[in-house]
Amino acid sequence: GADVVPKAPEDPLFGLMAAYRKDTFDKKVDLGIGAYRDDNAKPWVLPVVKKADALLHSSPDLNHEYLPIAGLAEFTSASQKLILGADSPAIASSRVASLQTISGTGAVHLGALFLSKFYHPAHNPNPSVYFSAPTWANHHQIFSNVKLPIATYPYFSPKTRGLDFDGMLAAIEAAPRGSIVLLHACAHNPTGVDPTREQWRQIADVMAARAHFPFFDCAYQGFASGSLDRDAWAVRHFVERGFELLVAQSYAKNFGLYGERAGCFHFVAGAGAEGADTAVRVASQLAILQRSEISNPPAYGARIASAVLNDAALFAEWEDNLRTMSGRIMAMREALRAKLEALGTPGTWNHVTEQIGMFSFTGLTEKQVLAVREKDHVYMTKNGRISMAGLNTGNVDYVANAIDRAVRE
Ligand code: LMR
Repeated sequence: GADVVPKAPEDPLFGLMAAYRKDTFDKKVDLGIGAYRDDNAKPWVLPVVKKADALLHSSPDLNHEYLPIAGLAEFTSASQKLILGADSPAIASSRVASLQTISGTGAVHLGALFLSKFYHPAHNPNPSVYFSAPTWANHHQIFSNVKLPIATYPYFSPKTRGLDFDGMLAAIEAAPRGSIVLLHACAHNPTGVDPTREQWRQIADVMAARAHFPFFDCAYQGFASGSLDRDAWAVRHFVERGFELLVAQSYAKNFGLYGERAGCFHFVAGAGAEGADTAVRVASQLAILQRSEISNPPAYGARIASAVLNDAALFAEWEDNLRTMSGRIMAMREALRAKLEALGTPGTWNHVTEQIGMFSFTGLTEKQVLAVREKDHVYMTKNGRISMAGLNTGNVDYVANAIDRAVRE
């Protein structure tokens, strides 16, 4: 009976969020969950999302009917163009199969499930999926749920607080032919460390030589650098190189649609003559998987994103909103680094401005993390990751002082 079910630990990230909410200290700071905050530490409904919402609600045709199994067609086709580029040869030759998903998590899951059922290369019939060490904690749970074996490649160098590129490349090269390699398209979570374009090219070379299968998780397009094209560069490069690959696309961060669960999954067939046919067959299987799990995806978030993605004026306004978010985060990186350097906090702090996106991997130890939580009510994950969006002009000095004290102890 269910009396044998062991009690599982609480999710560390959502547990941290709950602990922060309970804390009554007036200067408390939330640097935990990766969600954008404005300069007053408040959630930010993007102005363009407010507009799209008003447009939706003024439509006389709005109803609560089911979406198709694959989701809202205007949304999935606009999502393809967004990540692959409007002039992508893969789109032009109908090599892409796309389904709307329960945000990025649902897309990663659908891809993992698909691979577990259908990806069994003859020379490596039970392939492992290779994760960066570290990666988003949920990757481990999602892939083990579908029983795909997990392995890791080195990624973060604690010494430089940058990329361990040699270690990464060597491990990918040593992986059995046909392994699945999970890559963060931009703004790596949790480290904030991305490969350069030249490094991406070398990763693609090794992956091609080893016939590996790329799976891109893209949760921060436009949010990382402020440029949608720049943040999509790695994915587009792999597509140009002719890889068969998967992409999980989230609209949680770049539209601020966290709770609405808007996302998209893309299968891109390799650049051969049979690619269009492969995409049709794969789409038919993905539809069966989707039907058995969620029947059809939720409508609201996709309608909002679709309204913006398919309208030139709203799209331009969205890009402006993206620059507001990424710009504020970059300013906070500068401010935190400058304050730590002014305090003479032991160590180097250049990584704070060199890392990109929602997070910085500070290099604080677990003991230091717990000390700033206890003494200063500053909440961050135990691995020393801080959500940069939790910083603002009103608390950055306070946080720098807290970090300074913890590091000196
Ligand atoms: C995070 O890592 O903080 C976010 O991606 C939120 C999540 O779902 O874990």
